Amino acid sequence: MRLRDLIGKAARFVRQTHSDYVVAAFSAAPGIDPNALPEGAGELTEFNNELIDRAFHSGRMNYAKAGLFRHLTGTGSRSVVITDEKGVPAAWSILSINTPTGSFGGITVRPQPPFAYIHDTFVTPEFRGRGYGTLLNARMIALYGEGRTLFCLVRCNNLPALRNWKKCGAEKLAIIVDGRSFRGNWNHKVTVLSSHPLLREILALIRLHH
Ligand SMILES: CC(C)(COP(=O)(O)OP(=O)(O)OC[C@H]1O[C@@H](n2cnc3c(N)ncnc32)[C@H](O)[C@@H]1OP(=O)(O)O)[C@@H](O)C(=O)NCCC(=O)NCCS
Repeated sequence: MRLRDLIGKAARFVRQTHSDYVVAAFSAAPGIDPNALPEGAGELTEFNNELIDRAFHSGRMNYAKAGLFRHLTGTGSRSVVITDEKGVPAAWSILSINTPTGSFGGITVRPQPPFAYIHDTFVTPEFRGRGYGTLLNARMIALYGEGRTLFCLVRCNNLPALRNWKKCGAEKLAIIVDGRSFRGNWNHKVTVLSSHPLLREILALIRLHH
């Protein structure tokens, strides 16, 4: 093996060797108004290609995400977007209903009705801590939560996201430890935290690679 390949493999090993994810399911949290815009916000809307382009050209969204979001919105995924006062997306979240969302680490999520997967929730740094993240989730649940079970995966060490999700009525269902050996094999450990009646069905939508 060439030195360059070995360094690449070691870097991938360090990067991917171990991540823990919490799987959480949502039910509407009382006391959060899904229509109340926070300070500095323009409007609540949904992605279309023009808004994705605007987010990309403003530097708030990278090239890969812009491509992914064009694909997802074109294949049935829904979104919630909060623009700033100039109409540029400042915060967004995606809901995938029946489209696989690509892999991260050794995991691929394949949502299908009546479940839907909330992901890529993002608030531009200068807008954080003002309730944008809470509003994205509250709005998502209000618009798309009826008759569906919404769930997400969040890294165990992502405290802002965990607090945000908890505030929005998320219940922790399980922890998935996503590990990779030096040979490149994935290994997972799933610890169940809840007796949620749909837990098995939700976990079945989360494909763990070998
Ligand atoms: C996670 C994220 C969406 C939160 O957005 P936000 O608009 O800052 O969140 P809110 O202002 O609605 O805050 C919601 C709760 O989280 C808490 N919170 C926000 N930022 C926090 C931080 N840096 N550290 C700890 N808690 C934080 C808030 O205190 C609030 O709880 P409180 O009102 O009880 O105090 C945002 O930080 C973000 O985009 N992070 C990067 C992308 C990411 O990690 N996405 C989640 C992927 S699963």
